[in-house]
Amino acid sequence: MLSTNNAEQEHHSENDDLSIREIDRLFATAIREALSHRWDDLDVRCLPVVDSTNLEARRLLSVENKGYLVAASAQTAGRGRRGRTFYSPGDRCGLYFSLALPWSYEAQPTQVTTMAAVAVCRALETLYGMAPKIKWVNDIFLQGRKVSGILTEGWIRPETQSIDALIVGVGINLVSPKAGYPQEIADTAGALADSISNQMTKLIDPNELCAVIINALGDIINELPSRTYMEDYRRRCFILGKKVLLDDGRVVTPSTVTDDGALVVYENGRYEKLSTGEIQIDMHDDELLVE
Ligand code: BTN
Repeated sequence: MLSTNNAEQEHHSENDDLSIREIDRLFATAIREALSHRWDDLDVRCLPVVDSTNLEARRLLSVENKGYLVAASAQTAGRGRRGRTFYSPGDRCGLYFSLALPWSYEAQPTQVTTMAAVAVCRALETLYGMAPKIKWVNDIFLQGRKVSGILTEGWIRPETQSIDALIVGVGINLVSPKAGYPQEIADTAGALADSISNQMTKLIDPNELCAVIINALGDIINELPSRTYMEDYRRRCFILGKKVLLDDGRVVTPSTVTDDGALVVYENGRYEKLSTGEIQIDMHDDELLVE
């Protein structure tokens, strides 16, 4: 835990109100302090609110192509996969950040998404003893509910039309909104606080969480040549071996995820590799219940 916040934590410990507290504010200095030396050159910026941290990262990259971490407590136009919006209210409900990196590896955005998914899971496990699961390709689940989503986008340099940087955006629901989630996601969304005690919830420090995820991602970048992190991904991917519905209407049984992040499904006697697409799960299907 970051020692700088202990006093504030104690001050707030008698207060059961989980809405905005000083300890929940994002500080570039607090994040920087907890980052490993690998990230010494990262330009860390925190904003109380922004349209989208991915968009802000894009704007920064177009001024100078270097490493940025942009974190915000609320987004007014949070971006999800496939043109959807990502619900990003303030009021202590979430942590939203984007890591923008000049990128020279041959990895595709999907592969980087799998890396980030493992990083989020490892951080939640290390910090709070949680047992997060992954729904291919970018969703993190706890107790059967989506608590985090990841959106990786390539940044294309206008002059060369080549991908010069990658932007990995991570959104995490910390506490469920008091008034509930919007109807479209009410059945599926959840928050970290829903699976831990109130006492533990008070210890969630978004600065620390953000830094620990970025550090975990740094370790995973080291695992790129051997792809060992993918064993972790597959172990956590709760849809493997289960009947699931694809967004194109087919019911398939995914057998594995390849090292480059493609889903392998078995249908009509043959295997097929899906690089894009989405799994739709029935939250009431007992087979898919995630403990
Ligand atoms: C999804 O679930 O479809 C992906 C959601 C990704 C949301 C994060 S929040 C931080 C970053 N900024 C954005 O606008 N989107 C990503």
